[in-house]
Amino acid sequence: MILPVSEFRPSARVARVRISPNAAANARAKALRDAGRDIINLTIGEPDFDTPQHIKAAAAEALARGDTKYPPTEGTPALRQAVAAKTSTATGLVYSPTQILIGNGAKQLIANAFSATVEPGDEVAIPAPYWPSFPDAALYTGARPVFVATAEARGFRLDAAGLDAALGPRTRWLVLNAPANPTGADYPADDLEAIARVLRRHPQVLVLLDEVYEQIRYDVPPPHLLAIAPDLRDRVLVVNAASKTYAMTGWRLGYAAGPEPLIRAMTVVQSQFTAGVSTVAQAAGLAALTGPQDFVAETRAAYAERRRLVTEGIAATPGLTLAAPAGAFFAFPGCAALIGTQRPDGGIIASDADFTEYLLEEAGVAAMPGAAFGLSPYFRISFATDAATVTEALRRIAAAVADLRPAPALAVAGA
Ligand SMILES: Cc1ncc(COP(=O)(O)O)c(C=O)c1O
Repeated sequence: MILPVSEFRPSARVARVRISPNAAANARAKALRDAGRDIINLTIGEPDFDTPQHIKAAAAEALARGDTKYPPTEGTPALRQAVAAKTSTATGLVYSPTQILIGNGAKQLIANAFSATVEPGDEVAIPAPYWPSFPDAALYTGARPVFVATAEARGFRLDAAGLDAALGPRTRWLVLNAPANPTGADYPADDLEAIARVLRRHPQVLVLLDEVYEQIRYDVPPPHLLAIAPDLRDRVLVVNAASKTYAMTGWRLGYAAGPEPLIRAMTVVQSQFTAGVSTVAQAAGLAALTGPQDFVAETRAAYAERRRLVTEGIAATPGLTLAAPAGAFFAFPGCAALIGTQRPDGGIIASDADFTEYLLEEAGVAAMPGAAFGLSPYFRISFATDAATVTEALRRIAAAVADLRPAPALAVAGA
């Protein structure tokens, strides 16, 4: 018997979680474009570059030699070895392949880590603004996200006192994403030292270090948290992926390095839910990590130029503010001064969601409201798109902002 749609009841677990807001906004922008609208889509955090040729060639070779059978759940020995070597170099510690798990993108590894460790009622501390999948992955597993506020004035970096106050006996994880989505925040050595001091006071807390934007940094890269605080290594799970660094979002290849018991528990989860990652993607990932790295430097330079265009463009737009991103390919401008203004059609901008809706309708620029990342009134633009498009988007945003007017007093009172 087929169940009528009206009677379908999702599990409480699923009911706690939303479809990714980024995916939804991206779909809306694409639908408008398909309907003939001239839309610049800045909603999506995906490199606009193609995967480098030598990586594709390695995948083709894997296919040609028949490397098409079930992969080992935890990842191929060669790729685990490459990730262990990379993590050892980054941290100055010695990692062995048994401390490495290859997963279907960073996203799956994060959900896997929470699934393997949290009990209902446990807390996951997440700096806000945040990448929306952090709280949703925590919620799915029955944990309670606890948000730790960060401020534009401090470049959206966690401060030690705020962090200390947020951690408690039920905290299972602290999520640290650096450089961060959506703000580009990154942590210099003295910040990492202060965070490590707080963590030592809370020995029950594991740290999920999300480094997917590790290679997209605009200043001298800071030291690794584990180079600063090697004593934390039994509590730190480093999560990374080929997705952003090598323009491999579609290959679904992530990796995690951490204490062996945690990696073993995550391997159990993986063995029952997704099994090992596609053999072809793993062969490609090995070529990515061990092959030439020119692509990484070239794309970093391209992102740096776009970041310059964005920071200058926002600075030249009255009403917007920006803490310049230290890394990643996102800017998270503030639009507080525009809240309460009036659109040319009379509508009132009462929230960042109203502002991004206005940008979409008036300027044909799709951006994400800060509310989706847990902080208003802000909005996120991705500059993982070519410089000419970024320039045009900034021009349109400035023109749309210039068209806003102070609202009549009555409307402001009612807004
Ligand atoms: C902070 C952060 N972590 C993880 C991911 C997802 O990475 P992957 O595509 O490897 O699952 C993203 C993608 O937007 C991200 O911004």
